[in-house]
Amino acid sequence: MPILECLLQRRLIVVTGKGGVGKSAMTSVLGRSLARRGRRALVLEVDPRENLHQLLGVAPSGGAIVEVAPNFYLQNLKPRHVVDWVVDKQVKIKMIAKRVINSPIYHRFVEGAPGLTEIAILGHALRLARGELPDAPDIDVVILDAPATGHGVYLLTAPKLFAAAIGKGPFADLASEVADYVADPVASGLVVVTQAEEMPVQEALELRRVLAERFGRDPELLIANGLYPVAPDRGDDELTALWRRRYQLNVDQLERLDRQWAGPRINLPLLPIDSGAELVAALCDRFDTALEAL
Ligand SMILES: Nc1ncnc2c1ncn2[C@@H]1O[C@H](COP(=O)(O)OP(=O)(O)OP(=O)(O)O)[C@@H](O)[C@H]1O
Ligand SMILES: [Mg+2]
Repeated sequence: MPILECLLQRRLIVVTGKGGVGKSAMTSVLGRSLARRGRRALVLEVDPRENLHQLLGVAPSGGAIVEVAPNFYLQNLKPRHVVDWVVDKQVKIKMIAKRVINSPIYHRFVEGAPGLTEIAILGHALRLARGELPDAPDIDVVILDAPATGHGVYLLTAPKLFAAAIGKGPFADLASEVADYVADPVASGLVVVTQAEEMPVQEALELRRVLAERFGRDPELLIANGLYPVAPDRGDDELTALWRRRYQLNVDQLERLDRQWAGPRINLPLLPIDSGAELVAALCDRFDTALEAL
């Protein structure tokens, strides 16, 4: 099936890659692209630094769902709020729920329990996509701006480990529901972002290997972002030499990806535009053209 159709089917798309390669920019581009095609898309950020709103040219979400454009939404999520919500739902007497949530032992549990944050993030995405959140708009697809590579793998594998380790209870139930969801190749997909430089490419290849091993899945799409334009032929100054060198590094790493990465890839240039909505719009046009050509 063409990659465009695959992406249009998904209810959850997780975007990951090495730190700083353009994950947040590509999450914004994907959200915008899918919304333009009529999918009701929500980009979900869990980074407390909150920068997706800046890339999309809207006010900070501060935890709320913000409308970016028709069919297009943004939310910055505090995973802790989701965990509190599960407790609140389980404990029927509000006063007791409040006491639990405010107790030091509960705080230690939430901070220390491995995988709980990941389950909270994915559980929230699942409920959004299923229309189970009372005040949320109707959403067809959630695009998650996931943490950098190592954590991205953990995000996807934690629910299964958690469900197996805990066995029973509300968090274990949520964990196994989420584990099934992320293992379903129709419901969810993974997009890896890299720059065509040695270390990010190394990490992208490693991520692919680990995912296949632990998860039995391949990423849907690879985006090679921030590619240098061809350097001018003439000129022997240092700047032109540096430019040629960077360009050649990109060429070498793209060749490496040609050999080692099986599956669709989209190349996007480094644009001379400041971070913000104008950059995302320009990248989105290029992304759409490349996506349709795949
Ligand atoms: N193709 C591009 N052309 C120009 N600037 C870009 C491009 N892609 C990303 N940027 C800029 O590069 C910077 C890093 O991008 P971004 O914040 O998306 O990376 P990230 O992978 O999310 O980083 P982090 O790991 O810190 O979350 C941002 O200022 C962004 O606007
Ligand atoms: Mg980011």
